[in-house]
Amino acid sequence: MQAKHKFLAPATLACAVAALVGCAGLPAPAELDKQAAASMQASFRDQGIAKADRIKQDLGQSACSSDKPPTDAVAEKIMAEAKGTVKWPAGGRYIGDWKEGEKIAQNGRGFTWTDSSNAPGAGGGSCYNCHQIGKAEISFGNIGPSLYNYGKNRGVRDVTAPTAAPIIQYTWMKIWNSKSYSACSNMPRFGHAGLMTEEQIRHVMALLLDPNSPVNE
Ligand code: HEC
Repeated sequence: MQAKHKFLAPATLACAVAALVGCAGLPAPAELDKQAAASMQASFRDQGIAKADRIKQDLGQSACSSDKPPTDAVAEKIMAEAKGTVKWPAGGRYIGDWKEGEKIAQNGRGFTWTDSSNAPGAGGGSCYNCHQIGKAEISFGNIGPSLYNYGKNRGVRDVTAPTAAPIIQYTWMKIWNSKSYSACSNMPRFGHAGLMTEEQIRHVMALLLDPNSPVNE
């Protein structure tokens, strides 16, 4: 063991020296970023419904893909911009049918290039991939917090009561564009990215907030 270690040391040193010499000839970080972006752009092409412009990052994506988290000012800007994208439901109808919501939450189907259309409504919410929701489903991910008893824990006894309005609006915003409240959220921006329709969001809203939903039993 000892002998092997001694043998490796000069080689390691040589590598370090080579790396240092190499560094002197490297382009500046901004130039490297440009080259990396160009290489990414050249590596993808449009195929079916998947367009290469998917790799273009908005502020929230680029600032949150860095090795450093965004500054407070940038994070505030990302959240303010995200809030500005939220489309409120037609006629103030926030709550659909929790039974439909459960199916959508269970459905992990996204859009692939072989789909004929990427119109919202063809995919699911994949909510269970990251959240515990109903007690009956024992297979769920834990990237996000448990949403079991979501409405009950927040005192929602009647979704039409004025006291329920703030939590209902918060939940809509969170599902429409998760970056509204967490600049570098890992949660898909369901409404903003066109992954779910208004109707689908209404149904998962019901799953979380309707006192009759098994989530709130
Ligand atoms: C890829 C993982 C992921 C998926 C899929 C996902 N979420 Fe989330 N969700 C999160 C994370 C992480 C948080 C914690 C806050 C944050 O970082 O945005 C969160 C937070 C939330 C919150 C706020 C909870 C609170 O207490 O304030 C709600 C509501 C929510 N998610 C609903 C949903 C619904 C409904 C779906 C499906 C349509 C869904 N999520 C799909 C990751 C996910």
